[in-house]
Amino acid sequence: MAILGIDIGGTGMKGALVDPTTGELVSDRFRVPTPQKRNPKSMAKAVSKIVTHFDYKGRVGAGFPTIIKNGICLSSGNLHKSWKNENVSEIFKKETGLEFTVVNDADAAGYATMNYGVGKGEKGLVIMITIGTGLGSGAFYNGELIPNFELGQIPYKKFKKIEEWASNNAMQREGLEIEEWALRFSKFLKITELLVAPDLFILGGGLSKRFNEYEHLIKSKTPIKVAALKNNAGIVGAAAAVK
Ligand code: BGC
Repeated sequence: MAILGIDIGGTGMKGALVDPTTGELVSDRFRVPTPQKRNPKSMAKAVSKIVTHFDYKGRVGAGFPTIIKNGICLSSGNLHKSWKNENVSEIFKKETGLEFTVVNDADAAGYATMNYGVGKGEKGLVIMITIGTGLGSGAFYNGELIPNFELGQIPYKKFKKIEEWASNNAMQREGLEIEEWALRFSKFLKITELLVAPDLFILGGGLSKRFNEYEHLIKSKTPIKVAALKNNAGIVGAAAAVK
């Protein structure tokens, strides 16, 4: 049976029906913008719109852009601060009447990539980085997820977290050229390399699609692959979390 996977981001929320055995989308994607308030009430309503669009009745898998432990949001990330310590699954259940399995969005994207995508069979320490509103990270050791790696939260210079300086959001906010942004991203990869010595980086999220434009500027020595599932990885991984 197809499972509804929803990838909840700081900018957009995307859902699709997924065949959990093959990891393939069996419907079109449906996207709603993340409400500007980014608070529990408005976001639950947006999730409900996606559920209604698919007229879906089963358990939903959702990737959520914060630290998630047992369904509880432990950091508010780029969302409204009132999310902190809230039970995300319960909030979505209240609005939709459906059960939810909620996991961190980058963990979900990484899970999909490791099981159905370019990470399949990769051994050692693989770090998936999603480049979007924030910098998400998913860590896998010999294919097993180590949940809630938060590499985007490393403090850097005057920034409380490096994602404020090196994410897609930073590029938009400061009007950076792709090359200027890439030098920052390269620095982020080099710091990560120093801290956890990965065997492979896999890039996903919006800016991974433009990798060929900035590949030559990346200074880290760790091999890099681009997630071919690209923007669908979060949806597929969220659905797989239900399985
Ligand atoms: C959050 C992460 C999330 C990432 C990408 C960060 O702000 O701390 O949990 O994975 O954004 O959405």
